[in-house]
Amino acid sequence: MSLVITRSKSFNLQTGETLLEGLERTGHQVEYQCRSGYCGSCRTRVISGEVRYLTEPLAYIFSGEVLPCCCVPVDTLSIDIATEKEEIPSYLAVEPDFGF
Ligand code: FES
Repeated sequence: MSLVITRSKSFNLQTGETLLEGLERTGHQVEYQCRSGYCGSCRTRVISGEVRYLTEPLAYIFSGEVLPCCCVPVDTLSIDIATEKEEIPSYLAVEPDFGF
């Protein structure tokens, strides 16, 4: 069982869960499509820690990123992801004005 720390909470990954499944179970907002390491939609930035891939991912990721859909933490993992309940700061929530 590994500890996962996000921007708003921490939780233990359960036996047999992928990181994506653990994030969903604990109310985190994660983009995903294939859930198999092909599309890259779930790409997430790691703050500290390492993961082990259950299947070798085909999607390209940059250094410091992981694909939660097909990995588990090696030990304590800190990632840059929020829960659905976390509010977007007002300065980021401004709608662009395209002048139409
Ligand atoms: S959901 Fe497609 S790579 Fe993770």
